[in-house]
Amino acid sequence: MREAAANLLAGNLVAFPTETVYGLGGDACNADAVDRIYSVKGRPAHHPLIVHISSMQRMGDWAEEIPEYAITLARDFWPGPMTLVLKRGSLAKDFITGGQKTVGVRVPDHVVALALLEAFENIGGKGVAAPSANRFGQVSPTTAAAVVDEIGKYLDSADQIIDGGACAVGVESTIIDCTGDAPRILRPGAITVAMIQASTGNIVAKESNIFVNAQEGAESTSASNLISSAGTGIRVSGSLENHYAPAAKVLLCETPTPGQGFIAHVNMETPAGVIRLASPHNDEEFAQILYSALRQADAQGLKEVVVMQPIGIGIAVAIRDRLARATNGR
Ligand code: TXA
Ligand code: MG
Repeated sequence: MREAAANLLAGNLVAFPTETVYGLGGDACNADAVDRIYSVKGRPAHHPLIVHISSMQRMGDWAEEIPEYAITLARDFWPGPMTLVLKRGSLAKDFITGGQKTVGVRVPDHVVALALLEAFENIGGKGVAAPSANRFGQVSPTTAAAVVDEIGKYLDSADQIIDGGACAVGVESTIIDCTGDAPRILRPGAITVAMIQASTGNIVAKESNIFVNAQEGAESTSASNLISSAGTGIRVSGSLENHYAPAAKVLLCETPTPGQGFIAHVNMETPAGVIRLASPHNDEEFAQILYSALRQADAQGLKEVVVMQPIGIGIAVAIRDRLARATNGR
């Protein structure tokens, strides 16, 4: 960890595991390192990056005027799969915030990530910018091997990938806009509306159709209005219509036909000739294996994969959100 932290401080990139997905880390105070993150990802500039810190004590380095409810959320859910969007402090330069007046901050819940962040802070680092370690628009990696597949050939010899095993959560953090009177979800994740309401006592704004049950929401499958960033001036790259997409075409809740891949809860049978890619036992496990199952479809050269999406209102909301994007415009 000391070596990797020094490497970050020297301006190199270190991909590392978090509980959600693997991140591609660079020194959040170093414009050149952040430039390299963009080029390795092939991500258009001006998309904001999340700053990862080792504890909520460090929030004040990056953010200002932190509202009471954001402190409550940080206390309740950090370390954890939650990113808070706050009014930026002086450390958060335009190259981190995409020119916005806000900054996304997160304390990940993973021993390796926390050890790396602590080691980095011990030698004077302030925070690690880390988007998911995939090429722009692709499926986020949840194993070190997936990171190698995604970006290995774009890394320099001085860059590193730390293998911390498979990610426990499997979908990206819940992003919560904390710049208004009450929290507002910009990207659903493992920290749910109910958890946020129970923690803060605030009603969470539900401006979009992501929070309805999949069956109720079946009529309005458009992915483009899923994230409540419209009209707020807030840009969330994960809100682009076609994101989180494998090469295989993703079909939702159809009966699979021979030759197609199939991802569904374990109690659903596999029709003859269909290639079963995953059989999760519950929604948490569904989230955990979804991205690796989609990768598996590509590795097997499948043209189409049918996903029977979960209908719950917990982490299933995040699963449906990502799947809607994976299918959109294709
Ligand atoms: O779980 C995660 O959040 C993972 C792990 C590595 O921590 N990271 C991640 O980063 O998903 P990325 O860059 O792939 O997605 C972060 C999203 C982007 O859509 C970005 O636009 C949004 O967070 N974001 C970052 N800062 C923001 C800000 N100040 N305001 C609004 N959205 C922001
Ligand atoms: Mg991403």
